[in-house]
Amino acid sequence: MATNNYKNALKNPVFKTVSAAASALGVECYVIGGFVRDFLLERGDAKDIDIVAIGSGIDLAKKVSALLPGKPNVSVFKNYGTAMLKSGGVELEFVGARKESYSEDSRNPVVENGTLQDDQNRRDFTINALAISLNDANYGDLLDPFNGIEDLDSKTIKTPLGPDITYSDDPLRMLRAIRFATQLNFKIDAASIDSITRNADRIKIISKERVVDELHKILAAPVPSVGFALLHKTGLLPLLLPELTALQGVDEKEGQKHKDNFWHTLEVVDNIAKTTDNLWLRWAALLHDIGKAPTKRFDKKVGWTFHAHEFVGSKMVFKLFKRLKMPLNDKMKFVQKMVFMSSRPIVLASDVTDSAVRRLIFDAGEYVEDLMTLCEADITTKNPKKFKKYHNNFQLVREKIVEVEERDSVRNFQPPVSGEEIMSTFGLKPSREIGLIKDAIKEAILEGEIANEYEAAKAFMLSKGEALGLKVAK
Ligand code: CTP
Repeated sequence: MATNNYKNALKNPVFKTVSAAASALGVECYVIGGFVRDFLLERGDAKDIDIVAIGSGIDLAKKVSALLPGKPNVSVFKNYGTAMLKSGGVELEFVGARKESYSEDSRNPVVENGTLQDDQNRRDFTINALAISLNDANYGDLLDPFNGIEDLDSKTIKTPLGPDITYSDDPLRMLRAIRFATQLNFKIDAASIDSITRNADRIKIISKERVVDELHKILAAPVPSVGFALLHKTGLLPLLLPELTALQGVDEKEGQKHKDNFWHTLEVVDNIAKTTDNLWLRWAALLHDIGKAPTKRFDKKVGWTFHAHEFVGSKMVFKLFKRLKMPLNDKMKFVQKMVFMSSRPIVLASDVTDSAVRRLIFDAGEYVEDLMTLCEADITTKNPKKFKKYHNNFQLVREKIVEVEERDSVRNFQPPVSGEEIMSTFGLKPSREIGLIKDAIKEAILEGEIANEYEAAKAFMLSKGEALGLKVAK
């Protein structure tokens, strides 16, 4: 099974050190997994390097550290039987070869009593089971018992053992298969697709954090729709993101149809992936229409409506993030804001007035460009004339945003007259009137009635106070 020599993959001097440490301990060891795969795919040198020892990975890590300059710190994860150290910009993870299945259950220490072949058997995919020897006798040899090289060539994701065994060892692998297919633009072997479809339900036993990690990676890929279409096809999607599944389908009433909002959403995500790497903006694209399922109505006069779907959708974002144990922080608020505002530039594009643009900048604040990026990605019409027209309209909106912002700077709006000044001017204690006057000043600025500056705002405050029957304090 040993084939060609892959010494080129081992240019980093750290491999020689690992080899020397293994010789000193009298154990065999191999570099395995993602590093080998990515080297063969010419994806650049991976920074995470997995080393499998035929013996104790922890002991090997300690020996490697002792031989390295500066003796880097070794982090030991006893219950997983792994150890990690950092050296020269790479992270080395050591594990003892396992006979038993991979397990995320950390209650029982892992048994390290396998051979290399045992360990390769228990890995997720043939392309991730490729190993390169670090042993003196065959240094640089590639060990490929499952024809992983062939699967790399034919761009296929396939399990080393029968797929039901591999996926039941760790059901997260169902998602990993889809993630790799999306990242690498590979096909998933038919037997795997069948097995994932049969076992989809088992994803429920996997921690939300691990699931979300894979969803992030799918979304970060060049064409994320590949992954979401596979999640849909295998029945994983309704278990993870039922809000998206609910968007699928086209209803027809009295000869009127609406578009399939699921497939539309996937197009939007692919579009935005071409223009931004911002993961949270990609999440916003994925979720921008989720409010359409619960708000869908048919009205005899106007046809299909999705009234207030942006508001409903933004509320759903919170529930979805909470369910998936995603951070309920500023990232979530950003996604909510994008979903909530997702139709604003569209409404505005047909009639670009200064005041509407000022309000858009005021409401979107620092995220106004992100919002425009989302709205441009939302253009999925197949009619070239309309496509051009919509893009041109948004271009006008973008130009207007720059123009208005240069003149009025409302992006990070600070009231030009403070609440304290209003209080002292009219001799008021904290009261409703202060809020009324502050709001009126803000509205006057957004409407373009007064400039966004102190003198104009103060004059406006005085006249507004007078209208409310207030007297200037002496
Ligand atoms: N592995 C596995 N089953 C899992 C996770 C990982 O068999 N559920 C094995 C695979 O051999 C994999 C290796 O452990 O190549 C390292 O896993 P990981 O670092 O998670 O993935 P990589 O393959 O390195 O890829 P990436 O860095 O893109 O996640």
